[in-house]
Amino acid sequence: MINSVGVVRKEAENCNCLQVFFVSGSFKVDSVEAKKKEENFRETLRDMANSKYEYVKSFELEDEVMLPNLMVVRIDGRDFSRFPQVHEFEKPNDETALNLMNSCSAAVLEEFPDIIFAYGYSDEYSFVFKKTSRFYQRRASKILSLVASFFAAVYVTKWKEFFPQRKLLYAPSFSSKVVSCASAEVLQAYLAWRQQDCHANNQYDTCFWMLVKSGKSVSETQEILKDTQKQQKNELLFQKFGINYKTLPELFRQGSCLFKKKVEETVKHDENGNPVKRLRRKAVFVHSENIAGRSFWNEQPSLYNDLGHFTKDIGKIEPDFIRSFQFENKLLPLTWVVVRIDGCHFHRFSDVHEFEKPNDEQALKLMNSCAVAVLEEFEDIHFAYGVSDEYSFVLKKESELYKRQSSKIISAVASFFTSTYVLQWGEFFPHKELKYPPSFDGRAVCYPTYNILLDYLAWRQVDCHINNQYNTCFWMLVKSGKNKTQSQDYLKGTQTREKNELLSRQFGIEYNSLPVIFRMGSSVFRLKEAENGVVSGKKLEGEVVVDHCNIIERCFWEEHLHILSYS
Ligand code: GTP
Ligand code: MG
Repeated sequence: MINSVGVVRKEAENCNCLQVFFVSGSFKVDSVEAKKKEENFRETLRDMANSKYEYVKSFELEDEVMLPNLMVVRIDGRDFSRFPQVHEFEKPNDETALNLMNSCSAAVLEEFPDIIFAYGYSDEYSFVFKKTSRFYQRRASKILSLVASFFAAVYVTKWKEFFPQRKLLYAPSFSSKVVSCASAEVLQAYLAWRQQDCHANNQYDTCFWMLVKSGKSVSETQEILKDTQKQQKNELLFQKFGINYKTLPELFRQGSCLFKKKVEETVKHDENGNPVKRLRRKAVFVHSENIAGRSFWNEQPSLYNDLGHFTKDIGKIEPDFIRSFQFENKLLPLTWVVVRIDGCHFHRFSDVHEFEKPNDEQALKLMNSCAVAVLEEFEDIHFAYGVSDEYSFVLKKESELYKRQSSKIISAVASFFTSTYVLQWGEFFPHKELKYPPSFDGRAVCYPTYNILLDYLAWRQVDCHINNQYNTCFWMLVKSGKNKTQSQDYLKGTQTREKNELLSRQFGIEYNSLPVIFRMGSSVFRLKEAENGVVSGKKLEGEVVVDHCNIIERCFWEEHLHILSYS
């Protein structure tokens, strides 16, 4: 939620230069001259912005996928070697788990109409956007995090439907990335690459698990399968286990495609009981041996119209294309990385779920509990600050989480947060049904120095103050009988002091006596050893706690040097 004050516009290159300048070692924290230089720089940036802290926005980089590139978002189960084991999925393929993945992907197509085609197998799914899509101004981080977040939320929501007898033991999450394809030809190569991967993995895994089930050890099995060709594996399956690979279910061998097709549907029955049929565009699952083949693709108007024709069949996939599919952007080394997530359309979500206005304490506590789970999951995240439907997570400067690949970091945090939100909903709202899966978008921003990072956090807390004060006044006015426009007009141009006076005079509310969680937002961090000692025989060192402290004042940071281990 970034909306309180005007927006600072700054060129991305400008920002890049600054980052390089800061990181190149020009500012050594212990040198007085360097400190002065840094302070001057911050002052310059502040002069260009509207408020003391808002200059930090200039560190946010643009990541638009330029037209005419085609956008593909691929999600991939995070830590999905452990998840299927813990949840006792069948090996090598669990049909129910695959159907759950397919059902989630159908929900994605319904939620995001710009997605035209999806292909998935195992724990991964690729979603292809129509070539003219302007979804979220084609901003890569937003799009990849939203898809991963929504997918994770749906996965948790639908779990019971697919596994009624099995408890979901922990929050699943998905990493995701945007693959940008310069033409239909490149998209064709991408799809061929994914389906080849499906074929190769499934064949290997089928052999692997048959051998293991027949009594071989894992290392013996690996040795047997080492360097074997496709044909040899097929023979092994046939000779040893009587399995004709080609007769295994298409779902396992070919993966699943999903796209909208015109299908005839019975919409009603006439007075004589005869069915009345209409043509409707409906997402359907299709299995095909070669999804990148011309014969498959060019027969589907919804595919070639929105994504382009495939002009020839491909044999070997260009290695350069594969390199481009595997490319990952990395976040600048030795900078403080902040991953900020924000609830998508939470205005509506809060209305539908009847959150109290302007603050719903339970909803905030649920957000905090998810943030605690994030810190427990990712040890490189040392601090988090949250307000309303947003949370900022700070990674330690030296973090090598996912080799600092930005897509992986953003999607893992956003999707883990979201699935935890869905999983824990019932604990915080035992009498309220979750009406639809929420989603959070994410971005990552690098802050080159400790002081700028603290200014970033101060900026978010200032925003919390401004919004909370405004919203408290606004909703008190509305509750007292004014309509929304009258209340807005009434508050236009008022300063902090006037708003406090209004609350006190008209409603008998002392702003400073409102719950601290509303006024300060929530900070999440690990306790230091000396602070907690031993409680009921349990050592609490490193325990993640939630506090509502003033993080604008530097004294908080001086008293809690361990949090960001500033050196
Ligand atoms: P996008 O983030 O752009 O998708 O829009 P959004 O609708 O999520 O709005 P934004 O993030 O700017 O603001 C968050 C919105 O969530 C607020 O404007 C509120 O409408 C709603 N919200 C967040 N927390 C609460 C709460 O505790 N109570 C109520 N009633 N609403 C809340
Ligand atoms: Mg929001």
